[in-house]
Amino acid sequence: MDAIEALTSRKSVAMLEEPAPSKDDLETLFAAAVRAPDHCRLRPWRFVVIEGEGRNRLGDIFAEALQKREPGSTEAMQEKTRGKPLRAPMIIAVIAKVQDHPKVPHVEQVLSAGAAAQNIMLAAHAMGYAGIWRSGSPCFDPHVKEALGAVDKDQIVGFLYLGTASRLMPLPQEPVADYVEHWSD
Ligand SMILES: Cc1cc2nc3c(=O)[nH]c(=O)nc-3n(C[C@H](O)[C@H](O)[C@H](O)COP(=O)(O)O)c2cc1C
Repeated sequence: MDAIEALTSRKSVAMLEEPAPSKDDLETLFAAAVRAPDHCRLRPWRFVVIEGEGRNRLGDIFAEALQKREPGSTEAMQEKTRGKPLRAPMIIAVIAKVQDHPKVPHVEQVLSAGAAAQNIMLAAHAMGYAGIWRSGSPCFDPHVKEALGAVDKDQIVGFLYLGTASRLMPLPQEPVADYVEHWSD
């Protein structure tokens, strides 16, 4: 798939199954990720690949976080939360490693990590995989952040759920002109 086709045809897929990206394919995904633009070359990103039993570990962390956030949450709510990482064969947690810098505000570092995340999504799509970028409460939860090694000003920018599409849905048409204006003189 050429780059323009990948860019204009990517869509999120929530129903995912095996296969997930192989070891070699992961190297390509990360090679694409680290081509994201990055002011002052801070490399403000870190990626945690979660698959197999690791997804249960992440599910436990999500459930612990829910219990801390909402001590009144029921066992059923915790079980539902615990099962969330099992919705895909692989998850890549993308963390923005944010530092104080005289020229690069925090927001630019988070944007760079977000661009790296999108490069992963696009490269995965171009290689025939599918996925969805998710956040939700776990992204902003101190317990989840700590468990994933996000410290201080770091931010989890997303959980990229990856695998192969169980079902393909049509690509919606986007009314591009609604979002664009031109200044020519
Ligand atoms: C930072 C970020 C966080 C997101 N979090 C969620 C989420 O938690 N749950 C969800 O269903 N979609 C989430 N989305 C939206 C999906 O990734 C997706 O973009 C949306 O479902 C539209 O589908 P499309 O990408 O095919 O246009 C998030 C998107 C971004 C950029």
